[in-house]
Amino acid sequence: MLSAVRTCLLPAVGLYLLGLKVLLVQLFSTRLRLPAMPRQDGKVAIVTGGGRGIGYEVARHMARLGAHVIIAGRDEQEGLAAVRRICEEYKKAKVNFNKLDLASLQSVRQFVQKFKEQDLPLNILVNNAGVMLVPEGCTEDGFEQHFGVNYLGHFLLTWLLLDTLKDSGKCGDFSRVVNVSSSAHRIGKIQLNDLNSRQGYSAHAAYCQSKLAQLLFSSHLNKELQRGGFPVSSCAVDPGMVDTALYRHLWTPLRLVYSAIAHLLLRTPEEGAASVLYTALSPVLEGEFGGDYWANCCREMTTPPTFDPQLQLSLWEISLQLLACSSSGLKADKQDSSLKSTSDTDTNSS
Ligand SMILES: NC(=O)c1ccc[n+]([C@@H]2O[C@H](COP(=O)([O-])OP(=O)(O)OC[C@H]3O[C@@H](n4cnc5c(N)ncnc54)[C@H](OP(=O)(O)O)[C@@H]3O)[C@@H](O)[C@H]2O)c1
Repeated sequence: MLSAVRTCLLPAVGLYLLGLKVLLVQLFSTRLRLPAMPRQDGKVAIVTGGGRGIGYEVARHMARLGAHVIIAGRDEQEGLAAVRRICEEYKKAKVNFNKLDLASLQSVRQFVQKFKEQDLPLNILVNNAGVMLVPEGCTEDGFEQHFGVNYLGHFLLTWLLLDTLKDSGKCGDFSRVVNVSSSAHRIGKIQLNDLNSRQGYSAHAAYCQSKLAQLLFSSHLNKELQRGGFPVSSCAVDPGMVDTALYRHLWTPLRLVYSAIAHLLLRTPEEGAASVLYTALSPVLEGEFGGDYWANCCREMTTPPTFDPQLQLSLWEISLQLLACSSSGLKADKQDSSLKSTSDTDTNSS
């Protein structure tokens, strides 16, 4: 009984209280608007989960600014419909859909292979796709779903695309990795010995853990890139509370309340996309001014675990082990060989 309270009830109460606080702050703040951003002609961007919600608005705005946008998602119909809508709105838009299921490491690898066959640069990678409060279940490779989709799938995607990001960035025009996290990371705990929540499942705790993991990854990656002198930065961003389908797995009574009030109280997907677009496109974040954690288009301080270098490193190393990636992947010249050697040797659990 006591352990059920600790495992399930406390994380749920924590997340709802945090949500309430974020909502109140949001309601009493001025409406978030994206400042004018520079044209992106010639740039190539990948937006995961760009078929709907915040990701769709990010893809749409980037296409409007002239970027070639690749919407990466698991639902082909939804992705193609998003491409059609954007092309109807902006006749000159350059948008494609490519299939990517972050719950399958094989799908991530196939996506990257297909992308690389096109021989395109990659200037912006927006790791946006996500799931929240999904029932207990596993990804194709046996990882807990929040951990596998929100964090590990994006880790592998970024890792496999690092060489292209590095080749596409230059001094004064860095490539950018934008990790769409959440204020929920503030109450997240990284269970290094139970990343897949096998010792007791709480969907709330698993979501918060995955969002903290994204921040730790983002920060460590940025440090490694800076240390290596590569023209790529990595930052994390909170879009705020946004009225999207992300909330569809809420407990039924809460979902009913949500559907009645969300459109009045929460941000629209377009407003939610503002901070993501700001971190992806703003000249303010150029070069060494990139990195860190952003919310409401501002750099924000966050909780101490996020800056814990030992925690960052431990999670990084465990993730590389889980994905069977060699840590030499950050060395430009060894990237290809290190990745080739990993492709057949995924491990299945933590
Ligand atoms: N909405 C908020 O209040 C809020 C607050 C903080 C942070 N965020 C973050 O913002 C990001 C975008 O969320 P949203 O609010 O726009 O939610 P959303 O409307 O539910 O969009 C999520 C997107 O992720 C995709 N996705 C889910 N699982 C996937 C998988 N296995 N492989 C590939 N794509 C997958 C979905 O595709 P399908 O259609 O195929 O499911 C969908 O396109 C998420 O990372 C979320 O954690 C949102």
